[in-house]
This record gives sequence, C-alpha cells and structure tokens, in this order.
Amino acid sequence: MENNWTDKYLLNIDQIDQQHKVFFEIWDKEIKQVDMQDQIQLACVIEKLEDYLKDHFKYEEEMLREFDYKDIKNHIAQHKFFIQKVDNLKQELNYKNPLLFEKTTVFMKTWFLSHIIQSDKKYQDPAIEYLEHKDFLNNIISQ
Ligand SMILES: [Fe+2]
Ligand SMILES: [Fe+2]
Repeated sequence: MENNWTDKYLLNIDQIDQQHKVFFEIWDKEIKQVDMQDQIQLACVIEKLEDYLKDHFKYEEEMLREFDYKDIKNHIAQHKFFIQKVDNLKQELNYKNPLLFEKTTVFMKTWFLSHIIQSDKKYQDPAIEYLEHKDFLNNIISQ
C-alpha cells in the first residue's frame, strides 16, 4: 500500500474525496512545520488531525444514515475504534519522545488510507446511486 494520497483513493464523491484529500494535505503541512522540541505544538498537531477526522466521520456517517447504508453499524464502529485508539496513544504519549509523536501521526495516516480502501470504498456504489437520485429529484423540484 502506498503511504500517501493518490488518485486510486478517489471514490468519485466530490465532498468526500475533497475531505479525504485535505486530511493528507494538512498532515504533510503540519508534520513539515512542527518543532519536535515543542511539546505543546506536538500535542496541537495531533489534536488538529484528530479534530479534522472527527468532523469528516460525522459528515460521512450523516450521509450513510441518509441512504440507510446496510453496513453502517460496522462502519461507525470502525470510526469509533480509530478515535479510541488515538485517545489511547495520546494518553501514552510522552511528548518529550518524538518517536511516539511519529508513531501516533503515522498510525493516523496509514489507518485512514487503509480505511478508505477497505471500508469507504464499500459504500461508494450505493452512495453514488443515492446522490444521483437525490440530484435528479432536486432538479425536478427546482424546474
Ligand atoms: Fe469512513
Ligand atoms: Fe471517509
């Protein structure tokens, strides 16, 4: 598996793709800029990445709920697992040790990439079908 965003991670659902992609942009930018000696900054970067993903999960779950995705429970459980895991890592984390910072941020990135490929991809077809239908109905209503 590649360790960075590429087009093979696209779901062809604009909002979702945009959100997925932006996470990796933020990740790259934050990691490049962070001062490894500054514990508060390290904590802030993890917080920022986690908050971004929490917002994304919320958006995604809302959409899955809207079209009654059959595997929604399992999908939400995966998001929850991730948040729990990051919270555990944060507790474990001694920010004086840059290796643990790296362990946490790399976990976030690789988990998210494999989640997109293994789980988000599974809702791709029913979601596109639902969104196209919704667009179609909206067009009729607005005519
Ligand atoms: Fe997801
Ligand atoms: Fe997602």
